Amino acid sequence: MPVPDLSTLPPAERATRSELFKPLKLGSMVVQHRIALAPLTRNRGKPSEKVEGTWYPWEIQSEYYCQRATEGGLLISEALPVSLQAVGASMTNVPGIWTEEQIVGWKKVVSEVKATGAVFVAQLFHGGRSCNHSSLVRACCPSATRVENTLGGGPGDVPVEMTEADIQRTIGDFVQAAKNAMECGFDGVEIHGGNGYLPDQFLHTNINTRTDRYGGSVENRNRFVLELCDAVAAAIGPDRFALRLAPYGFFNETRGQERKVQWTKLCEELATRKYAYIHFMEARYDEVLSESTKLAALGKEMTSDFSSDGLPTIAPFRAALGGVSGTPVIVAGGYDTENIWDVVDSRKADLVALGRYFTSNPDLVYRIKHGKPLVKYVRPRFYAFPGKEYQEGYTDFSKHEDNLTSDVERARWEEHVKRGIVVAKPGWQLSQDGVQLGEIYV
Ligand SMILES: Cc1cc2nc3c(=O)[nH]c(=O)nc-3n(C[C@H](O)[C@H](O)[C@H](O)COP(=O)(O)O)c2cc1C
Repeated sequence: MPVPDLSTLPPAERATRSELFKPLKLGSMVVQHRIALAPLTRNRGKPSEKVEGTWYPWEIQSEYYCQRATEGGLLISEALPVSLQAVGASMTNVPGIWTEEQIVGWKKVVSEVKATGAVFVAQLFHGGRSCNHSSLVRACCPSATRVENTLGGGPGDVPVEMTEADIQRTIGDFVQAAKNAMECGFDGVEIHGGNGYLPDQFLHTNINTRTDRYGGSVENRNRFVLELCDAVAAAIGPDRFALRLAPYGFFNETRGQERKVQWTKLCEELATRKYAYIHFMEARYDEVLSESTKLAALGKEMTSDFSSDGLPTIAPFRAALGGVSGTPVIVAGGYDTENIWDVVDSRKADLVALGRYFTSNPDLVYRIKHGKPLVKYVRPRFYAFPGKEYQEGYTDFSKHEDNLTSDVERARWEEHVKRGIVVAKPGWQLSQDGVQLGEIYV
């Protein structure tokens, strides 16, 4: 079916005609439009005084998610560690979902967010080798292969190679965390299977060098992810379960070969399980490499399925998932008020998740719908660390001036004007070249 060109229409008409603002069923969840908040680690948890090395969510998370909520809009939570080992010595201030205090905290946040009418999914996370050893726990990985150049500089700790028992225990931690998420009132669970974290570590040939049934072949490298998905989906229901993947990612030194085969086979397997959705980070999003280095590296590795801009596409994986009538697909990476429009109409994906622009535009859905300019994000405030103001660059961004509905919002807008709102030109973030350390942390 030809894609209607809606780009020349006035915003109101475009929004009426585009599938972007039409409802969709994602398993047992129903969204009223196709724009989602991408999972964003923001390091604003409160340090626990009860359990060493843990953080829990508090009022500020409620405020942050409620600001970004829309009726029937999908919000995906920041990555929630499933255990102490999932955090290790990194990930400070990241609220998890395994202690009593964290569960109590999330229950409150979720009930307030759900009262807005939003659909709220918890992203579950395990850092594997990306965490260093801490005084409390040792970092683990499918093989004892370390990260050679960490974001902090220098090599990471050599992780402990997981035994079969470690693997089963870790799957158990995810299952318990997923049950906790359900108890907290989340609508569903998404496992973070990208960015070189534990599940992704099993998929990459340069990280997973095992010779048992979890390594050595495409099928064996997929085994952990599939067993993990099966166990978590069995615990909460496949119609509430989702997985995030980054088939072309390089973050955390993921340099696996046979990517198209690896992820296509994985998606073929996932398709049979009828999950709520599969969420892809696209190749266009340059992580820690410069755009040109990334293109060159992918160019060497990928020989087909390139799009017109020279990047490999998710088309083979969408097809493996059953195409337009198969498992719903979310894409993320570099979308803005302009390039978002034909993603759903062209059937490339069913939903689009936005990350960085959502940090600085709490009413991003309104701005897209009404063609309003976007405020530039403030990279140094992506992750806050102790001693800094938690709300700064987190909950203090304003809605668009045409969209203010209370005195509090007007006061925030006036404050924003006083500080000098900086507006982004569409696509500006994609044209940047050069190393973007800290661009994504999780
Ligand atoms: C501050 C920040 C934190 C992030 N945290 C997560 C995370 O917790 N889980 C995850 O899967 N991706 C994470 N990402 C990646 C985003 O979900 C998203 O895929 C990425 O920002 C690309 O989308 P964008 O171009 O709209 O920002 C993070 C990105 C940023 C900028």
